[in-house]
Amino acid sequence: MQVGILTVSDRGARGEYEDRSGPLLAEMVQNSTPWVVSQQAIVPDELAAIAQTLIDWCEAGLNLILTSGGTGFAPRDVTPEATKAVIEREAPGIAEALRAESLKITRHAMLSRAVAGIRGRTLIINLPGSPKAVRENMDVLLPILPHALELLTDTPGSESHHRQV
Ligand code: MTE
Repeated sequence: MQVGILTVSDRGARGEYEDRSGPLLAEMVQNSTPWVVSQQAIVPDELAAIAQTLIDWCEAGLNLILTSGGTGFAPRDVTPEATKAVIEREAPGIAEALRAESLKITRHAMLSRAVAGIRGRTLIINLPGSPKAVRENMDVLLPILPHALELLTDTPGSESHHRQV
């Protein structure tokens, strides 16, 4: 499985701020799965730039794209809109579960407008921007991702040792 990690941040893209969430996501994927992080990038909070990167990575054959940032209420937070523009099928249960679990930790979880969905054979999932939120959301996501990708890529059994009973 190939994974792409996209940090969405104006300041990060300008180099004014060191992105910690992207590297944390890569570390968590590499430590918890046999998958390869084959793409990693930072783009500004621009709908066209986010959407184009998602499309390019889907066409490159990535199985999973995790985005971080731009899901809140600030005027420039448009990651969910860019994601909705490129997905063909929604996966609302993922976003619902992430918010529900996160609400047990912070009421601010209801301020995330993150979405998840599928384009072709690629699953795209929005995560909030802070490293704390990334870690908390990934703790919820990681156990279900192997089965999700197995279904999406139609490779039964290849990930079955991860399967939750
Ligand atoms: N979810 C978890 N698990 N932990 C958090 O600390 N922060 C929230 C929320 N989701 C948070 C969380 C906050 S403060 C905001 S504003 C929204 O995610 C959106 O974050 P973003 O604008 O960085 O994408």
